[in-house]
Amino acid sequence: MTAVSPAPAEATAHTSRWPMTPELAALPKVEMHIHLDGTLEPAMKLALARRNGVTIAQSSEEEIRDSFVFHDLPTFLAVHYSNMDVLWTSLDYEELCYAYLSTAASQGVRHAEMFFDPQLHTSRGVPFDDIVRGYRRAIVRARSDFGVTAELIMCFLRDYGADHAMTTLMSALRYRDWIIGVGLDSDELRHPPAEYAAVFGRARREGFQITMHCDVDQVDSTEHIRQAIEDLGTQRIDHGLNVMESDALVELARTRRIGFTVCPLPYSTHPTRGLPELEVIRGMLDAGLLVSVGSDDPPYFGGYLGDNLQFMAEVGGFTLQELWLTQVHAVDIAWVSARRRQELLEELAGYARDHALDPSAAE
Ligand code: ADE
Ligand code: ZN
Repeated sequence: MTAVSPAPAEATAHTSRWPMTPELAALPKVEMHIHLDGTLEPAMKLALARRNGVTIAQSSEEEIRDSFVFHDLPTFLAVHYSNMDVLWTSLDYEELCYAYLSTAASQGVRHAEMFFDPQLHTSRGVPFDDIVRGYRRAIVRARSDFGVTAELIMCFLRDYGADHAMTTLMSALRYRDWIIGVGLDSDELRHPPAEYAAVFGRARREGFQITMHCDVDQVDSTEHIRQAIEDLGTQRIDHGLNVMESDALVELARTRRIGFTVCPLPYSTHPTRGLPELEVIRGMLDAGLLVSVGSDDPPYFGGYLGDNLQFMAEVGGFTLQELWLTQVHAVDIAWVSARRRQELLEELAGYARDHALDPSAAE
C-alpha cells in the first residue's frame, strides 16, 4: 500500500437528479436506512484505489458508474460488494462515513442511523477495530461540523451464515456504546430470519436494538416478515412492503409499533412490478404503519434522502404533509435519547407551523 494522503474533496460532491424544492430542502430529515458500505461514490472509489495501490477494472468515474449494472438484489449485491476492495485503512472508513454525513447534512438530514457490514471487510483481512473506530471518528467530527447526530447499526450478511454472524457479534461487544443495534441484510434467498434466531437472541440480551431487512418481493417475503416480528422480536423492518399482502401482518405490525424503513428510489431500479411500490408505501401510511424513508445505497440508486423524498413528491404525488409525517415516524422509531427525540420533534413542529401543516396528523 502507498502512503496515506487525503481523498480529494470532490469525493463528497453529489449532483442530484431529483433537486429538492426549497420547501422540501428546508424539511428537517431523519435517515433510517443507509448502508455506509453502499455510499462509496465513484470519485472516492477511484481516489482510494490510487491511495491504497489497489488495481481496479475502471480508470474513470464514468467507467465506474457505467459498471453499476444490475437487475435484482443478487446482481446488485455482486456489483456493490466488488467495490469494497478499495477500502483498507481506518482513515478510509472515516472518510467514507464523513462524506456520507456531509452530503446528508447538505440535504437537511439532522439524524441518521447507519448500517455497516463489517464481514465485507473482516473477511478480506481488515481489522474490525479499524472499521468501527474510523466510523466513530467521522460521527464525532460530523456532529461538531454539521450538528448532525448519527449512530451505527451493525448488519450481519445473511449469506455468511449464523456462526460467522455470532463471531461478528462477539467482536462488537466491546463497542456496545458505539453500536446501538444489529440488523440483517444481503441475499435473502434461502436465508430466512429464523436462521439467525440465536444470534439475535444473544444480541438482545446484550442490549442491542434489533432490525432486519425483509426486501421487496423475495421468496417467502410475508413469512420472513412474520418470523422477524413474532419469532425474533424485531423492532423495525427494513423495506417490508410485502406486509400489505396480509391484514393479519399489518395488524401485528401496527399493534407492536414496528417501524418500516422504505427506500423509494431503489425500487424504481428493480422493476419487479413496475412502480406500484409508491402506491404500496402510501397504503402503508394510510394503514397507520410507522413508515420512514431511507436511501439504501445512494450512488447505485440515484440519490440520497432528499432525492428520495423529491422523487416521492414528483412521481408519487406525495404531499408535503405526508413527507413530513414520514420524518415524524422516523423520529418516533429512532434509537435516540429522550432529549434528542424532543429536539428533533421540536424542529419538525416548527417546520409544520411555518408551512401550515396539520400537526395532529402525527398523533
Ligand atoms: N445491502 C446493501 N443494500 C441492501 C439491500 N437493499 N438489501 C439487502 N442487503 C443490502
Ligand atoms: Zn438496505
